[in-house]
Amino acid sequence: MVTAGNNIQTADPSNIVIFGVTGDLSKRKLMPALVRMLCCGLVHDDSKILGVVNNRSEEVWLNLVREGMQQFSPEIIEDEEKWQRFKSRLIMVPGDLGDETTYQRVADALVTLDGKKNAMFYCAIPPEWYGTVTRGLHQAGLANEEEGYRRLVIEKPFGHNLASAQELNKELQSVFHENQIYRIDHYLGKESVQNLLVFRFANSIMEPLWNRNYIDHIQISTSETLGIEYRAKYYEKSGALRDMIQSHIMQMMTLVAMEPPVEFTADAVRDEKMKVLNAIRSIGPEQIKTDTVSAQYASGTVDGEHVPAYVSEENVSPESSTETFAAVRFYIDNWRWQGVPFILWTGKRLQEKVSEVMIRFRRPPFNLFNTHASIPAANALVFRLQPDGGIVFRLNAKKPGLTTDNETMVMRAPYADDTEEVADAYEILMHDVLIGDRTLFSRADEVETSWEIVEPILHAWENRVSIERYRAGTWDVPAMDALTRDCVGGWHKPTVHKKPA
Ligand code: BG6
Repeated sequence: MVTAGNNIQTADPSNIVIFGVTGDLSKRKLMPALVRMLCCGLVHDDSKILGVVNNRSEEVWLNLVREGMQQFSPEIIEDEEKWQRFKSRLIMVPGDLGDETTYQRVADALVTLDGKKNAMFYCAIPPEWYGTVTRGLHQAGLANEEEGYRRLVIEKPFGHNLASAQELNKELQSVFHENQIYRIDHYLGKESVQNLLVFRFANSIMEPLWNRNYIDHIQISTSETLGIEYRAKYYEKSGALRDMIQSHIMQMMTLVAMEPPVEFTADAVRDEKMKVLNAIRSIGPEQIKTDTVSAQYASGTVDGEHVPAYVSEENVSPESSTETFAAVRFYIDNWRWQGVPFILWTGKRLQEKVSEVMIRFRRPPFNLFNTHASIPAANALVFRLQPDGGIVFRLNAKKPGLTTDNETMVMRAPYADDTEEVADAYEILMHDVLIGDRTLFSRADEVETSWEIVEPILHAWENRVSIERYRAGTWDVPAMDALTRDCVGGWHKPTVHKKPA
């Protein structure tokens, strides 16, 4: 939990309206974030949380919220005063999303304790409902900002391909102005992702090195040990490329590769990210074979437990060729990055759960100290996003002793020490919505361009009849060695640093 320190802008009182308030996202992420935000002043005390609930009494709904809190924010339930304070902010608006009168009831409930009608509409619902909700809000006059701000928050996936993303944007923009739309990518709310920007642009030693002259290649990865859990219906149609690369990982790539913006404002930052997306070299049919990898997990052992193969998961077709591992090698055709491979990869049921950005520098030209020995290892700068966010710098230093032999020295700088609490991405992002800061949200053109970039890969993969398998709980994807063969150090498989007991 963060505290609303001196530099944090206090949000005005608002009505936080959640569609899908009985769903999993609300239970796991939104409610726990809101309760913490209320406790530390990130949500104004005069705000209300309106849950749109179908077919349940208020008592049943409040019990559901309480149960969710017990699971995900037990510290609140243990403190009766905090729970009562949170509960007093909750208001149920009964209604079905498909019924127009629901939106009129939302409109009637929109008055905060100080009389303001500001509203954030959070769509924590399946994407097929986005259009219905947007139209309902429109018909009830709820996109109109005359009586207070009106902000629409949309969760990923933003479409399924370029055409559906364009259609969705058109639909949203026919009701809301682009600056009222907040497309959430929860990766951008992670503190350590934002630290990428601060590290790059608050240290003058980085800029001279941040280019093709010094950097051999960059790997941006999120590996997970979990499988698809209960989400087969979504995942079967999505796969790893859509689920992680088109969204979170390409967004991280833009932050790593972009030029310094002229100011730290939403459009200045997003303009620079767009320039990166526009400069990504298109992937043609030939590159699909050489520059992409897809695979699917077979059964195996994760954390000592046997886990089933993807095709044996509930609701997955036994013939499924959906990828649970995806990798793409991109090139950015601009002055700074010409010729530098950006390897983006992700997978479920791998050996470790780690997300990181690794900048691999070029090798020293030769070994000055011992011409018979191999060249010292290439330096690497790793931004560890999770777990234990922080920065790791791998440098070479002299081995203690009478020789000038060298060894790699690992400098670790944790992002926050054990006593500091790092804010959850949803706290950061919802606070940004409340203060109207769109810097960490994707603009329509970014979303569409990233779909355009991955679309040739999606088309090629759609037609595959079989797929490589890897044993769950391992790094057993040999095609990755081929993809990274020309990269100094090859495929970088992250390891979790075990803290000394
Ligand atoms: C979601 C994906 O967007 O991100 C999931 O749909 C994935 O499949 C999740 O597991 C990973 O998020 P995190 O924050 O746990 O790395």
